[in-house]
Amino acid sequence: MKLILLGPPGAGKGTQAADVVDRYNIPHISTGDIFRKNLREETPLGKKAKEYMDKGELVPDEVTIAMVEDLLKDMDSYMLDGFPRTVAQAEALDKFLSARNEKLDVALCINADYSLLVKRIVGRRMCKDCSQTYHTEFHPPKKDGVCDKCGGQLYQRDDDKEETVQKRLDEYESKTKPLIEYYEKKNILKNVDGSRSVEEVSKDIFKILDEC
Ligand code: AP5
Ligand code: MG
Ligand code: ZN
Repeated sequence: MKLILLGPPGAGKGTQAADVVDRYNIPHISTGDIFRKNLREETPLGKKAKEYMDKGELVPDEVTIAMVEDLLKDMDSYMLDGFPRTVAQAEALDKFLSARNEKLDVALCINADYSLLVKRIVGRRMCKDCSQTYHTEFHPPKKDGVCDKCGGQLYQRDDDKEETVQKRLDEYESKTKPLIEYYEKKNILKNVDGSRSVEEVSKDIFKILDEC
């Protein structure tokens, strides 16, 4: 199964991906998580990505596409979270897949209202070790500051400050939203209302994926 997860920052892509991965046993590839790991390890890729991420901007296509293609070349099943994020990335992915006689099964688009997105992002906490996501109000960990899953330390992402969030939402509107139409035309788009509880959203997603 080859899936992509679309949707604005804070819609719940990472949260839902964790459940999908558990149920269908497919790898979760989040370009945001990969960039953050590189950033922590201060690799050349991390240093490059930081210049853009700190401002809430997208990392340049050529950097992102090369990184993802290198990862996917030995995989036949995956859930891509946060990639593609521009039409150029979507076209590159199509080209990469068709050269291998492969195709995407589903593009899931999770959406929610703007005010809800901001609330979710600003209260988010992430595990340093396993990237599990929490929320101070909507999904608090059992023990303050500690990951339920692995005991890792929770932190607030640098780009989750209100001033950066606005830029990320603008980037989504101008560069990523056109992908909805792109995948609609390919007849693989499935919309999911992400404004409900985590369990309700998962239920819809499982229903779609069970039919794949
Ligand atoms: P990335 O890490 O992908 O961030 P994003 O797209 O901004 O998305 P988020 O991770 O903020 O939101 P999410 O939808 O995963 O929400 P989550 O599940 O955490 O990218 C970061 C940066 O990396 C980009 O800005 C860019 O610079 C760079 N980058 C990455 N990919 C790139 C690419 N392809 N090209 C170029 N640059 C790229 O949920 C949010 C919060 O809400 C959590 O606290 C969660 O607990 C809570 N929550 C979730 N669902 C619910 C629910 N149903 N009810 C209540 N609370 C909920
Ligand atoms: Mg995410
Ligand atoms: Zn953890």
